[in-house]
Amino acid sequence: MKTLFAASEIYPLIKTGGLADVAGALPVALRKQGHDVRLIMPAYNDLLKKVAPIQKSINLGNPFGVGDLILLETSIPESDTPIWLLQCQALYEREAGPYLDSKGADFQDNHLRFAALSWAAATLALHGHLIGWQADVLHLNDWQTGFAAAYLKSWKADHIPVVTTVHNLRYNGSFEMSKFADMRLSTELLDLHGMEFYGNFSGLKAGLVYADAITTVSPTYAQEILTSEYGDGLDGTLKSLQHKLTGILNGVDYEQWSPEKDQFIAQNYGPESLTKKYENKLALLQENGLSEDTSQPIFGVVSRLTEQKGLDLVLEAIPHLLDRGARLIVLGAGDKHLEAGYLELQSLYPEQVSVRIGYFEDYSHRIQAGIDALLIPSRFEPCGLTQLYALKYGTLPVVRQTGGLADTVFEWGDRANGFVFTDADVASLKAALERCMESFYNSHSWQEKQRNAMAYDYSWEAVTGQWVELYESLIHK
Ligand code: ADP
Ligand code: GLC
Repeated sequence: MKTLFAASEIYPLIKTGGLADVAGALPVALRKQGHDVRLIMPAYNDLLKKVAPIQKSINLGNPFGVGDLILLETSIPESDTPIWLLQCQALYEREAGPYLDSKGADFQDNHLRFAALSWAAATLALHGHLIGWQADVLHLNDWQTGFAAAYLKSWKADHIPVVTTVHNLRYNGSFEMSKFADMRLSTELLDLHGMEFYGNFSGLKAGLVYADAITTVSPTYAQEILTSEYGDGLDGTLKSLQHKLTGILNGVDYEQWSPEKDQFIAQNYGPESLTKKYENKLALLQENGLSEDTSQPIFGVVSRLTEQKGLDLVLEAIPHLLDRGARLIVLGAGDKHLEAGYLELQSLYPEQVSVRIGYFEDYSHRIQAGIDALLIPSRFEPCGLTQLYALKYGTLPVVRQTGGLADTVFEWGDRANGFVFTDADVASLKAALERCMESFYNSHSWQEKQRNAMAYDYSWEAVTGQWVELYESLIHK
């Protein structure tokens, strides 16, 4: 089976969040099982240094009038996965991240940047002869590639099977109608049941309405997004498309995320040698110049700092625990007021709190290995990967019961592996943190949870069967 997998970020080439981890791992897992999955992504600044030598380049012309779109055929060296990088200097060769400028604002022409990516993906899916490879299925991810479904629709290419995966409904890629003329799409698509969205047009809605199947990244989130609380204005649309919506839980790339093999941590360890986790704790405390008292728990955060993640609640709930000797290690970037809030906490508790603002892949591994408990009090969480990484490292997650967190972290019963609270408020988080502290002081209870956490297999191999089944059902539709 041949799948063209389109995404706006792919680890290890470029990453801002979990989408990159998924796009870097699911195709590889499917390829290991003999399926021919290939990738397409923009050739952002400096990316060519990270891939194998270019084998071929194909000029797709200048459909948007901003410069030629050139496809570069290459592969990701680490995983040997074939990828087409879409080159267009005017659109992609910029300083800063894939979506935001150096001041943290959306690029003004994001609609065009991702229209071009989507257009190229749709073109390859429809005209495989251009690259000598005809996909059976086109797999889109989030709003940045959702426009591809609209191009296929406007080209009357309904026979190409399309799957759209929603990693996050909050980012719906919605743009003012005045920009629609740039898109080279028919205005016929702008009705209520099309890609029109509250007077704007939306890449995500295009991906939903014109796809043959919609998936989201956990079974619970697939249910939640049908409600007005979690639907972000798309719940009505999703309800009408419910027959083609499923939730398939994300997996973990255990080649990257296993304490046994992790190259970034001070001391490798596993379920049979859990006492060695202690070395990572000490190393992390020393690295950050924090007090080395291990009789009190070390809490950690590795996260984008956005409203979604509920980390404003931690700022209010944690001082109480710090006063009792706990430590807090934070790695994150995002909202300026949250960054400032954490930096202020650090200045109030310099011996107990360490805050690093920015994005550091290696350090995120050292935190997972060195802390006792990871805090993820998300208001919503489509899947969440950091709790899955934490579990493998014998680090117990403290989570709000939502989305993929609800599907993977359990406080009670035989499979207890963390701490769970329901309401998105400070009191509920505080109560969960209290239970976490109590369990920490009872080493028998803590170690039992650690054993459960480390034993569970959230590998991609465990879910590839569901993906293959879905792709096949579309090919034979
Ligand atoms: P989301 O995609 O919503 O950000 P996930 O939990 O699915 O949440 O994935 C987040 C990914 O990004 C994880 O791999 C996590 O380790 C990583 N990450 C988040 N913030 C940082 C950071 N500041 N530095 C390094 N890695 C980070
Ligand atoms: C999104 C979600 C996160 C999910 C990730 C990968 O960024 O916020 O919950 O794990 O995508 O699917």
